Amino acid sequence: MSNQDKINKLIDLRAEAKLGGGLKRIEKQHEQGKMTAHERIEMLLDDGSFEELDMFVTHRCHNFGLEKKKFMGDGVVTGYGTIDGRVVYVFAQDFTVWGGSLSETMALKICKVMDMAMKVGAPVIGINDSGGARIQEGVTSLAGYAEIFERNILASGVIPQISAIFGPCAGGAVYSPALTDFIMMTENTSYMFVTGPKVVKTVTGEVISIEDLGGADVHASKSGVAHFKAENEEEGLMLIRKLLSYLPQNNLEEPPAVECHDPIERMEDSLNELVPENPNLPYDIKDVIDLIVDDGEFLEVHRNYAKNIVTGFCRMDGLSVGVIANQPNYLAGVLDCAASKKAARFVRFCDAFNIPILTLVDVPGFLPGSGQEYAGIINEGAKLMFAFGEATVPKVTVTIRKSYGGAHDVMSCKQLRGDFNYAWPNAQIAVMGAKGAIEIIEGRKIAAIENEEEKAAYVEQKSKEYEEVFANPYQAAAYGYIDDVIEPRNTRFRIIRAFQNLQTKRLTNPMKKHSNIPL
Ligand code: HXC
Repeated sequence: MSNQDKINKLIDLRAEAKLGGGLKRIEKQHEQGKMTAHERIEMLLDDGSFEELDMFVTHRCHNFGLEKKKFMGDGVVTGYGTIDGRVVYVFAQDFTVWGGSLSETMALKICKVMDMAMKVGAPVIGINDSGGARIQEGVTSLAGYAEIFERNILASGVIPQISAIFGPCAGGAVYSPALTDFIMMTENTSYMFVTGPKVVKTVTGEVISIEDLGGADVHASKSGVAHFKAENEEEGLMLIRKLLSYLPQNNLEEPPAVECHDPIERMEDSLNELVPENPNLPYDIKDVIDLIVDDGEFLEVHRNYAKNIVTGFCRMDGLSVGVIANQPNYLAGVLDCAASKKAARFVRFCDAFNIPILTLVDVPGFLPGSGQEYAGIINEGAKLMFAFGEATVPKVTVTIRKSYGGAHDVMSCKQLRGDFNYAWPNAQIAVMGAKGAIEIIEGRKIAAIENEEEKAAYVEQKSKEYEEVFANPYQAAAYGYIDDVIEPRNTRFRIIRAFQNLQTKRLTNPMKKHSNIPL
């Protein structure tokens, strides 16, 4: 064979690998509104930056006649490239090859890019579109999954791991994405479940559709498994690019800083009027966020899940900041199990990857009732407290309005090592709200008043007295629990100056094998 023949063979083999399971199956993939693995990677990465690895890998299975059929690449496209010029490692399962099912060799390919990503300290993005374990391979496929899981676990907190679900992801296969930092799902074309509708029907008798059991809507709003939901794959891939722009390459680096064109001393007069004078009226905390962050840009994480707390990334003076904010517009911003869990995981991500934390507080307390107690609100609330309390990144807290009881302590208070704790003049920092407090401390006297009008007037008068003492930020400020009471319109500047000051913050936790967060 001449040199040229050898080169031609290489070109042919490359072209064959690109076709995955063949044109027919690619057509089917397109008909379903799905892209191929190569197309997805091309769209995700900077133009021309993709370096594919292991395209000549084929399976080693000799069961069920599989030895007669081999596809180059064996159902997954792997390699590295760049996003905004920064290196990322990627793998994309190729549904056109045996439904993207996971073989021993597919697992080896995925493990190789995960190991490389750990070696060079770069994020890993996995695009999932698979029918699960390759049935013909049996236990080698199971072992392959476990090899991936272990790498997910060891990489956690070292490099960012992002999962896109662009097709089926079922059975034990769900656990690799679940071990990563963020999951993105596409509407109508993706689903995740431990057991599918058929098994559910056999075991429990419940009849349910794929979409209702594990579609993007369900996981983005009910279970919280998905952090992001995209209308289509293109939107999902662009969102992943955006998400990465807020993150460092690994836990030893700082997040990238961008030039800030939004004046840091920008005053927002509307903030002085934004919170209603009646403390029982709601407002949208996202309006506050939009007005104080650089260019009003906020990438919300878990937008549709536990809406009573808002989490997401923004920039302040060009630096990445993670925001955790109670949302008075939804369930009055109360902390419940889902909100606590959502916020705790976000705080821990930020802390693991050196992203400073801004906490905006307007919380009436924890949601009372047997439903929450039975669901373990004690543990869930403790999770959030633990996350804030162990975090060593710069932490700035602004109390916008209510900050009551245990929820006050949980929401990044001074004693949980809040670095700068500010409050607006209409903040109310107290053990509990006026009415509840008066009913307890004046209960005997109230019960003794027979005339209903007199009773109401007494309660009203005592509540006012209580409010005068506690419904303000000055008692907390008098103890130094609040570092300063600030004018709302000046909030952006005060936060930025605090974070600038904290750039040299050094804080470490006591040496230990690991903590025992109340999971
Ligand atoms: C081998 C598979 C496969 C699998 C699909 N294929 N899943 N091959 N192992 N797990 C093949 C099909 O034979 C078919 O091959 C091609 O992929 C496309 O599949 P279709 O069924 O035609 O596609 P579609 O109608 O879109 O249905 C997709 C699907 C279905 C819903 C995912 O294929 C399906 O139910 N697959 C099985 C899912 C499953 O039970 N997996 C094992 C779970 S146990 P041809 O040659 O016709 O193109 C598991 C344990 C993991 O995963 C544990 C980890 C700890």
